[in-house]
Amino acid sequence: MVTQAKRLLLVLVAAATVLMATGCPKPATEQKPTRPSTTAGLEMETPSERPQAPVKEESAEPTAPSQTEPAAEPGQMAPTTEPAAEEKAAEKTEEDTKEKATEGAAAPEMPQTTPAAESQAQAVPQGTPFEVKVPLGLPPLPIPEDNPMTVEKIELGKMLYFDKRVSADGTVSCATCHDPKMAWAEHLPTSKGIHEQVGERNAPTVINAAYAPSQFWDGRAKTLEEQAVGPVANPIEMGHTLEGMVQSLDNIPQYQELFKKVFGTGVTAENFAKAVAAFERTILSGNSPYDRYKAGDQNALTEAQKRGLKIFEESGCADCHAPPLFSTYEFYNAGIGMNKEKPDEGRKSVTGKEEDMGAFRVPSLREVANTAPYFHDGSVATLEEAVAIMAKGGIDNPHRSAEFDTVREANITAEQQKDLVEFLKALSGEFPVIEPPQLP
Ligand code: HEC
Ligand code: HEC
Repeated sequence: MVTQAKRLLLVLVAAATVLMATGCPKPATEQKPTRPSTTAGLEMETPSERPQAPVKEESAEPTAPSQTEPAAEPGQMAPTTEPAAEEKAAEKTEEDTKEKATEGAAAPEMPQTTPAAESQAQAVPQGTPFEVKVPLGLPPLPIPEDNPMTVEKIELGKMLYFDKRVSADGTVSCATCHDPKMAWAEHLPTSKGIHEQVGERNAPTVINAAYAPSQFWDGRAKTLEEQAVGPVANPIEMGHTLEGMVQSLDNIPQYQELFKKVFGTGVTAENFAKAVAAFERTILSGNSPYDRYKAGDQNALTEAQKRGLKIFEESGCADCHAPPLFSTYEFYNAGIGMNKEKPDEGRKSVTGKEEDMGAFRVPSLREVANTAPYFHDGSVATLEEAVAIMAKGGIDNPHRSAEFDTVREANITAEQQKDLVEFLKALSGEFPVIEPPQLP
């Protein structure tokens, strides 16, 4: 029975692969609607696990058949969920509802990946465990249980990060917009994707993104894994479909081999995301003058920087840009771009709440001196100007967050702003600058 099912699956997979290989990779337009690109999280398992998925992917329980299948191998399927039976049942329904809910819901764990993760964990080769050395000043690095760090996975993720074949026309890689030489960001106000199309938002640095409890300026992705498939299918950024991307990578024999070695699978969108995320978790910045100062080196900061630190702490900057990551990752409206004809709704586009209009995630300020231009729309060119806007408590508009009142009322002087800028420069530390690897 089991083996039969397995064989059937294999046949299906093979058939699908052939179909996909012959089918036109030309992406997007017709596929788009079923696959709301940027919110990728929930659907990303589907295409990856089962290339033949298109048939059933709309079903709310996409995973059921194919996923129970590998489980058949003794041992692994059942155990992971231990709780008492009723609890289990309760959880189940809760998870089901969660799964059906569209993204943006604040489910802290990624429940529905579990069956997939389990079945995959099963087949997953061990790999060489990789211990991230967290630089001075940073907290322990959160690593999802279902995506352990291995040397081989990180190497694969690095290749994928630099590989332009991930984009529809082969012109854009992750590194185009998050360039290691530009502190893993981009020095354009808003990003240029394939066909030179310009997006609406400034590319944030991927440095320390591993710590953020949500990704993107509006927090619409929860994890790096969820985030990584977003740009691929974004019509402006990489303009591909996940199927198209999987297919073009799967045409490269070395990638087939590497995915097999790392994940025990062919090229899948889910494992693409896992590899890229694992790589990103190595892109950290710490050991800055600020960190060395905090660790006891009194000479690590200049006098101006010490004054700036005090102002930063006492006038309310640190309420939102809280050390050690210099962000609470909450969302506020600072009034940036609100006078545009059609302002970016920011967090509101995720929650639907009026009070989130024009609110954006507090950016981390680590490496901020190296990641100009500033704010979600890249509208401000210099750190001095950015600090001046913040020091005024943002720009007035009907939605400006009241949390900015503390800084406004602190009446920060021009002199103090200079010290603040000096202090922010002390948040530039050490981060890896990586050369593009040899691609398969
Ligand atoms: C065309 C430029 C472009 C490309 C290509 C691109 N990104 Fe981005 N990236 C952006 C922009 C712009 C944002 C912010 C978008 C938003 O907030 O809505 C972003 C956001 C992110 C974030 C969230 C960071 C944070 O602090 O919220 C991460 C992580 C990231 N990208 C990684 C990647 C990876 C990995 C790839 C390759 C698979 C990639 N990007 C490809 C432009 C790009
Ligand atoms: C109420 C929370 C809050 C307070 C208080 C606050 N900020 Fe911000 N800060 C934000 C948010 C939100 C943004 C992004 C706004 C946007 O892009 O629309 C931001 C952006 C910035 C940026 C631009 C960073 C980048 O990468 O684009 C700098 C620099 C900055 N703040 C410095 C400061 C300083 C200095 C203070 C104190 C004078 C301060 N902030 C106080 C929430 C806050």
